[in-house]
Amino acid sequence: NWQMKDFIEDQIEKIRAEVGDKKVLLGLSGGVDSSVVAVLLHKAIGKQLTCIFVDHGLLRKNEAAMVMDSLVGKFGLNIIKIDAQQRFLSKLAHVTEPEKKRKIIGKEFIETFNDEAKKLKGIEFLAQGTLYTDVIESGTDTAQTIKSHHNVGGLPKDMHFKLIEPLRTLFKDEARELGEELDMPHALVWRQPFPGPGLAIRILGEITEEKLAIVRDSDAILRDEIAKAGLEDNVWQYFTILTGLRSVGVMGDGRTYDWTIAIRAITSIDGMTADFAKLPWDLLGKISERIVNEVGHINRVVYDITSKPPATIEWE
Ligand code: XMP
Repeated sequence: NWQMKDFIEDQIEKIRAEVGDKKVLLGLSGGVDSSVVAVLLHKAIGKQLTCIFVDHGLLRKNEAAMVMDSLVGKFGLNIIKIDAQQRFLSKLAHVTEPEKKRKIIGKEFIETFNDEAKKLKGIEFLAQGTLYTDVIESGTDTAQTIKSHHNVGGLPKDMHFKLIEPLRTLFKDEARELGEELDMPHALVWRQPFPGPGLAIRILGEITEEKLAIVRDSDAILRDEIAKAGLEDNVWQYFTILTGLRSVGVMGDGRTYDWTIAIRAITSIDGMTADFAKLPWDLLGKISERIVNEVGHINRVVYDITSKPPATIEWE
């Protein structure tokens, strides 16, 4: 794609001219935007780029490893990975209210990033994966009134960096094209949307390590089966929710009283509106069977058949 090739060359020249021999910092979330910026900057200025990847412990199964493998392993990026699960879990202990969870995670994320950034010396620039849509949306805050969106690329407010935002003129699909042109792994570039607060908003009510394991394992099964069915590109977003519900079941010849997993799979253009995906019954049956058999403490699986509106995509 010659347009993207031109874009890359232009940006590399611009970045080099602006940065000179100075150092740049970037917050990696594991998402498409920040990863694409990281690879682009690395191409332009190599080791002058340092990335901080805050793993809040609320990512999906193998996600942090996948990000590290592809960015460090394949491209040789300089990434400082912070394992902050305990820090986040302790702040989230006994918190049940969705907005409170979101606020805590957003705040903690920025603080964790800042703590680490302060240890680094001589950084002048901060790079961010801001897209054109983010530029427009920051003018309005209608979405904020429903859920306070937390984007893990959030700017540390008390630090005085000069900003570098090479994707400011691009839409999401263009950022993905750019990622492909930069030879980034398909799984990273075509990743389905994943919210900044991560699995925390897919566990209704209080978050514990045990519940995180349940939602992570059930989500991995769902993703595996969707991939095997070849439906990854047909369903816009799909995940599981650990509902706060327990119900009675029977396994073997014993009574169980255990948790309910909900499956959410939707089709959408931009996430603003959505329709529940008409997944084949057989596939849903297989997923349900595997979740109950392979994940402990689940005796019931339900499928969310609401569209957006009136429901939102995430449950919290
Ligand atoms: P809702 O649940 O509002 O979700 O219908 C719409 C889309 O946004 C994602 N989402 C988020 N993304 N930070 C993000 O970066 C957030 O705090 C957040 N909350 C929801 C959600 O996964 C869906 O794709």
